[in-house]
Amino acid sequence: MTPGLIDCHTHLVYGGNRVEEFEKRLCGVSYEDIARTGGGIQSTVQATRAATHEELHTSAAIRAKRLMAEGVTTIEVKSGYGLELRAERRLLEVARDLGTELPVSIKKTFLGLHALPREFAADRQDFVNQVSGPWLETLAAAGLVDAVDAFCENIAFSLAETEILLQAAKQLGLPAHVHAGQLSDMGAAELAAKCGALSADHLEYLSAAGCRSLAAAGTVAVLLPTAYFTLRQTTPPPVARLREAGVALAIATDCNPGSSPCTSILLALNMACTLFGLTPEEALSGATRQAARALGRLDDIGTLEVGKRADIALWRIERPAELCYGMGANPCVGVVHRGKLRGSQPTPPRTPPAHSPR
Ligand code: NIG
Ligand code: FE
Repeated sequence: MTPGLIDCHTHLVYGGNRVEEFEKRLCGVSYEDIARTGGGIQSTVQATRAATHEELHTSAAIRAKRLMAEGVTTIEVKSGYGLELRAERRLLEVARDLGTELPVSIKKTFLGLHALPREFAADRQDFVNQVSGPWLETLAAAGLVDAVDAFCENIAFSLAETEILLQAAKQLGLPAHVHAGQLSDMGAAELAAKCGALSADHLEYLSAAGCRSLAAAGTVAVLLPTAYFTLRQTTPPPVARLREAGVALAIATDCNPGSSPCTSILLALNMACTLFGLTPEEALSGATRQAARALGRLDDIGTLEVGKRADIALWRIERPAELCYGMGANPCVGVVHRGKLRGSQPTPPRTPPAHSPR
């Protein structure tokens, strides 16, 4: 028995897929080049805007159920493939609805700064201001925003632009996450720490100073090994340094159509060990206790303790490390979400059979 697993970084709701880019990358084209030439996030934005509400909901529910089958009881879901107010709202509504329809808890993150949409190509500043002002206010007022996020990267948004959104969120009392150091070190981890963000995510490129800032601020490092694997990156996050500094390490799938078409938290745990050198205990803690911390919910979920919510995963294993050791196996044999055994039917009244069997 473990705490229900927590996937604290996903982009679960989107239209289409990016299998053609997968093929292109295998022929040597880089993720950055694809993004710069209008593919990447932009292509998912087109597919997401074109999709019906029904299509978005159905495909996201399938992915959610795959995660849930592996003992996941809480999923963080980011928007960011709409990039216009109406489309962003739709993604957050689908995320919210999944949480009411399925036995899983959903945390909704407004990833307003993910890519610059084409219609704002000539006006970056206006886009950043819209996102951080009226869009954020509208979505928050509708109860659709538990936190904000920004992709702070040379192919996405600058430190200054990211800070505008983070400060606006702070004004509304909303916590933040930052996509930091995925492709380069721009100092995004320092910014996340300075703004008191809950987490800085990716962190393949992280300086010693960035690492110290995260430690000092208590910002969680969310590591995403399946994205690292998919993009065939070669510089892993500085795990030894993060550990030494006392930074909490969380692990998540980053489920998204581009850099991590992954719906297996157990595979993420496996890769956290094999690619990043975490111990199985660290990896497991990364998808429970530390993931709860990354969502600002350690008071409520992430460990099995009296007074916390009864989110529990049941496994047919002999040692916890087996959860990290297997690839493609699913030893989950039961899940309790909010105290209720998932899939259980109400107990039928015990009436004796009319004719006792021979
Ligand atoms: O976490 N880095 C930004 N966002 C996603 C990728 C999005 C995409 O490629 O569609 C990530 O890797
Ligand atoms: Fe991501």
